[in-house]
Amino acid sequence: MEDSKQWINESLKKFGFYPELTSPNYIKLMKAKKGLAKANSFLDQVDMILANSRDQETEIAKLIGEDEELLKLVYSTGIRYSVHVLNSILDVLDDLEVDPAHILELGAANGWALSLLDEYFDNSCKLTLVEKNRVWKAVSPKFNVVNLSYEEYDTDTKADLIFTIFGAPYFGFEELVACVDRALSAHGYFIAALRIPDDLMLSNFLKLCATAGLEFDSKRSGQLTVKAPHGLERFPILVFKRGTSVEEEPVVFDLLREF
Ligand SMILES: C[S@@+](CC[C@H](N)C(=O)[O-])C[C@H]1O[C@@H](n2cnc3c(N)ncnc32)[C@H](O)[C@@H]1O
Repeated sequence: MEDSKQWINESLKKFGFYPELTSPNYIKLMKAKKGLAKANSFLDQVDMILANSRDQETEIAKLIGEDEELLKLVYSTGIRYSVHVLNSILDVLDDLEVDPAHILELGAANGWALSLLDEYFDNSCKLTLVEKNRVWKAVSPKFNVVNLSYEEYDTDTKADLIFTIFGAPYFGFEELVACVDRALSAHGYFIAALRIPDDLMLSNFLKLCATAGLEFDSKRSGQLTVKAPHGLERFPILVFKRGTSVEEEPVVFDLLREF
């Protein structure tokens, strides 16, 4: 497990992220890259967005504009959570014993996690990523890159494994699940790692998935608890397969296993 985290961290560095970034180093690097005055003004504007905006990610992306290097630096402040999540997704995949021909990642940034999953499956998969921010440059020429929002994405080429790591804010879950419904094959799996903070939102998300014909696999799903600046944060990792008779299951965080 530690070995795969190390592999993920090393790969992230190769792709230009800073997975071991600390807050003082973030500010130092920001100042080195942008110059003192620009860095201070940028950091102030980010603080304003964090304090006032509902769609913080879109606002910060707008502020960053075309500068992919800066985007990578800003994303690096939270990328260690994605590392933990991908590591747990690998545990789920070990257990599922799937052999997907086509993997789709939703909200993939530059597709770093998709490329690692391809490596996990011996580079044997067709790969598609959907990412609305076109500033990201795909890390592999093998990807079919779709720069559309989930609402806009429709396809006849179904994927048999769809995953997302923090690919939608809570107010974008409906569009995300509708997109999975359109893009998932008849026997496919969907793995959702999203910021879902409480039981009510968890239950609403499971309802959405059940309505879309996604059967919740409660045994393989779980939650991950990670140290964060303001205490512990928990992230659910939810596993679904395309179901025939899908019923909504009442699930609360306490019923989810710990990864
Ligand atoms: C928090 S980032 C996570 C990136 C990556 N999965 C990771 O863990 O490093 C969420 C990504 O999803 C994309 N995204 C959010 N909502 C989207 C939508 N409706 N359609 C397409 N992409 C979306 C954002 O542009 C962003 O790149």
